[in-house]
Amino acid sequence: MKIFKNETIWIVGASSGIGRALAINLSNQGANLLLSARRKAELENLNQDLGGIHTVVPIDVENKEDIQNTIDEIRKSGIKINRAIFLAALYEPQKIEDLDIDFCEKLFKVNVLGCFSFAKNILSLMKEQNSEIKQIALCGSIAAYTGLPNGQPYSASKAAVQNFTESLKVEAPKNIDIKLISPGFIRTRITDKNNFPMPFMQEPEDAAKAIAKGLKSKKFEIHFPKRFTLQAKLLRALPYWLALPLTKRLK
Ligand SMILES: NC(=O)c1ccc[n+]([C@@H]2O[C@H](COP(=O)([O-])OP(=O)(O)OC[C@H]3O[C@@H](n4cnc5c(N)ncnc54)[C@H](OP(=O)(O)O)[C@@H]3O)[C@@H](O)[C@H]2O)c1
Repeated sequence: MKIFKNETIWIVGASSGIGRALAINLSNQGANLLLSARRKAELENLNQDLGGIHTVVPIDVENKEDIQNTIDEIRKSGIKINRAIFLAALYEPQKIEDLDIDFCEKLFKVNVLGCFSFAKNILSLMKEQNSEIKQIALCGSIAAYTGLPNGQPYSASKAAVQNFTESLKVEAPKNIDIKLISPGFIRTRITDKNNFPMPFMQEPEDAAKAIAKGLKSKKFEIHFPKRFTLQAKLLRALPYWLALPLTKRLK
């Protein structure tokens, strides 16, 4: 069934992994897509695979002017965005004693400030636009729930996105739906960098299916796979005296 028919959906981070799989899923379900990331060639190949019917909008979210200018261009074009999904992120697993602070700065510019700037600008565009469906979805992670060993600076950046999205949910007008996407382990170039066991690993197509379903649901958080995220939520709910010795065992 083409349940996204006549909807315009902007995916930032569509050139690989979860974003690419989501683009394929939503295209198959009738959506008109704006496909964004830095790698234009990857986006154009994806668009070709999807019949060349979508629009490629290269963007570097590390650059706040690029975000602002792209959203201004969309405003001028008159395109109405129904759903804006921000999946762009960088990842390198590091131990705190080996942290590369220059990389931390770059990662925070993309994962956190890029996300904040995108959300601020798209919220203001959506407020001006008159359409029935208006939604902003930002991507956290189960890594945001609790500080795990060897997970910085990525985990802290995702905790910032999660916290920001909670605030956005309560600040945004009622007619703009806000979603937090919290994936578990998904097989992409991000998890390819990990050399520790990753329980309940899923494929990008599974993630895309869960996200597509979640975008249409009334729930704030789209988290998957549930058999893993529910355990992670339980760990987060424990008092520190119990939770910290448990997380230490993951070292
Ligand atoms: N894989 C997992 O296990 C997992 C788990 C939890 C959460 N997540 C989240 O899921 C989202 C997608 O990640 P993924 O696993 O699919 O990894 P991925 O394949 O590396 O996807 C990341 C996307 O972000 C884009 N991107 C990176 N820097 C950018 C920049 N400066 N400007 C614009 N786009 C940029 C990349 O495209 P370009 O390189 O072409 O710019 C790519 O399309 C991320 O937010 C990630 O944190 C993933």
